[in-house]
Parts: sequence; structure tokens; C-alpha cells
Amino acid sequence: MVNIGVIGYGYWGPNVARNFHSASGVKLTAVSDISEKRLGLAQNHYPFIKGMKDSMELIRSTDVDAVAIVTPVFAHYEMAREALLAGKHIFVEKPFTSTSAQAKELIDLAARKGLKIMVDHTFLFTGAVKKIKEIINAGELGRLLFYDSVRVNLGLFQHDVNVLWDLAPHDLSIMDHLIKASPEAVVATGQGHLNGHEDVAFMTLYFPDKIIAHINVNWLSPVKVRTTLIGGEKRMIVWNDLEADEKLKVYDKGVKITSREGVYELLVSYRSGDMWSPQLEQVEALRQELNYFVDCISAGKEPFNNCCAGLRVVRMLEAASESLNRKGAFVRL
Ligand SMILES: NC(=O)c1ccc[n+]([C@@H]2O[C@H](COP(=O)([O-])OP(=O)(O)OC[C@H]3O[C@@H](n4cnc5c(N)ncnc54)[C@H](O)[C@@H]3O)[C@@H](O)[C@H]2O)c1
Repeated sequence: MVNIGVIGYGYWGPNVARNFHSASGVKLTAVSDISEKRLGLAQNHYPFIKGMKDSMELIRSTDVDAVAIVTPVFAHYEMAREALLAGKHIFVEKPFTSTSAQAKELIDLAARKGLKIMVDHTFLFTGAVKKIKEIINAGELGRLLFYDSVRVNLGLFQHDVNVLWDLAPHDLSIMDHLIKASPEAVVATGQGHLNGHEDVAFMTLYFPDKIIAHINVNWLSPVKVRTTLIGGEKRMIVWNDLEADEKLKVYDKGVKITSREGVYELLVSYRSGDMWSPQLEQVEALRQELNYFVDCISAGKEPFNNCCAGLRVVRMLEAASESLNRKGAFVRL
């Protein structure tokens, strides 16, 4: 039995606590939040837990073997460091840390202490991403050409990070999982209209072999859109995460370029075949992820969404911030 303490019971924390509570091999023993109101809500839901305003008290508690850090991003590093020093495994929200230097320090510390770090890259556990990975790995798309994602809605504003650090980690972790190559350079542009942080941003990533990715993130959009296009030479995927059924559509469409003998201009021909919608696994992603976290701790396995995956995402975000600050400069990774 792994005893879990959850720090941060705001918007996302209740989902983490609920899924740990219902998982097997785990006992939710403590919740910490500096807000008395949020702590009260947690204690109403789970009267058996220890509620603590001070996160350090939870971290040092002998009733806790592993700590879930679900606080705003600026607090991740300090809490993760203290938890590792106290000998606790950690589940930490995306993005892992505010800087890659902090991430590297935590990676070293966890290795020295023999502890596990899992970074919450929730989308990797969705039926959609699992199916896309299966399709790509089976070679059904052919050579990858592009990844193009729109992830926009009105709010929820974060107060300590801009929209790139808030929403882009989802796409960056998905790309990191799906595309074998690592990006070589990043360009990002954006604008802040309300509280000083960029609330609309666009990020382009250049990969080897001409793969290109674009991410459009926005807290000011009147409508919610969660649509990703993944183009391959043979087939293309459209993933609309807001669709109840048929989230994924695979199109047998493509473009062929040929040049006729004696004719020097290129001839473009379009191929338009069937479209189908594969069946997806219907399980709450976070539930699967947290079960996997407990499995990794119990069996001493290294999670694939570990601290190194977290660091790779933070590196891309840092490069994007540098580009953003230099009005869309080309930044090498
Ligand atoms: N994986 C996902 O899909 C997903 C979705 C939403 C948010 N998140 C991540 O979860 C984290 C939290 O986001 P949120 O939207 O829940 O934020 P939030 O502001 O709604 O909640 C954060 C909570 O942490 C508490 N807190 C702050 N400092 C604390 C401290 N020192 N000790 C104890 N409690 C403290 C706050 O009082 C608040 O209740 C962020 O890293 C965010 O990126 C992930």
C-alpha cells in the first residue's frame, strides 16, 4: 500500500485526489492547501485525511510515501526538492519546473536517492494518443510531415505563467511521445492583453527531415477548440478531442509529386481515398496515469513520462520564451 499526500486542491488537485482515492494499492492520507476554503472542501470530501495548510508538514509526514504536487508552476521545484530530500517519490504537474536547471537538479537528486519522479503528461494516457502512436508506429502514416494543433478557449487564466507554459506542454509532451526525432529549433510569437503574461501565442518547432509543428494556444478565444492535424506522406489524422464519438479520423489522402520525362515543371497529383474512425479506449486518462505511477513505485519501474520527459518539455518552453522575448527570433535547441 502506497500512502499518498496531495499538495494543492485548486482546479486540478481534486481530480488527482479523486483518482488516487479510487485506485487500488493506494491510500490518500493527506491533503495540503494554503487556502483554508480549499482545504475545507478536501476534508469534507475525504473526512479520513489529514488536512494541512503547511505543505512542508505533509512532505515530512511519516503517513506519506509519495507526494503529488498540484500547485502553480512556480512552486513545483521547491516542493519537489523538499519531497525528494525527505525520501518521497513525486508525481508533479506539468510543466515539470520553471527552468531546465531546476529540472536537472531534481533529476540528479532523485537518482541519488533512488526515488521516482513522474510528470503529469495526462494526454499520453488518452485513448486518442495511444491510438495515434499505434498508427504511427505501424508505419500507416508513412513519413511524418507536420503536426498542427489548435488549443484555445476563454480562460482559465493562470497567474504565474503565460499561455504557452500553461497549454503548450500538452502538445509538446504529445509530440515528444509520438515523434522519434527531437526538435532542432523553435520560433514563438505572442501578445499579452490583460495581466502582463502572453494570453495568445503561436509556436513553431522545426524537426529533422522537414517535419514541422505548429501550436496555437489562446486564453481569449470565444470558443473552445481542441483540434490536431497530423500529416504523413501516406495518410493524415484529424483529432478533434471535443467530439464525443469519432474523435480520431484517419484520411487516406495525400499528394504525389512527379516530373514527366522531358517536362521540367513538377506535376502534383492528389490521392483521395477512404476515411475511417478507429475505436478508442474509453478510460479516464488521469486514472490510468495514477495507477501507472503506483505500479512504477511498487515495482521499481521507471515511468516513460519521467523527469527526463519533463525536462525535454521545459527545454522547449524555455527556447519558446527566448524567441517570444525576441519577437519571434529563431532559437536553436
Ligand atoms: N494535467 C492537466 O491536464 C492539468 C490541468 C490543469 C492544471 N494542471 C496543472 O496543475 C497545476 C495547478 O493548476 P490549477 O489550475 O489547479 O491551479 P489552481 O490555482 O486552481 O490551484 C492551485 C492550488 O494550490 C494551492 N497552493 C498554492 N501554493 C500552495 C502552497 N505553498 N502549499 C499548498 N497549497 C498551495 C492554491 O491555494 C490552490 O488551491 C499547474 O501546474 C497546472 O499546469 C494540469
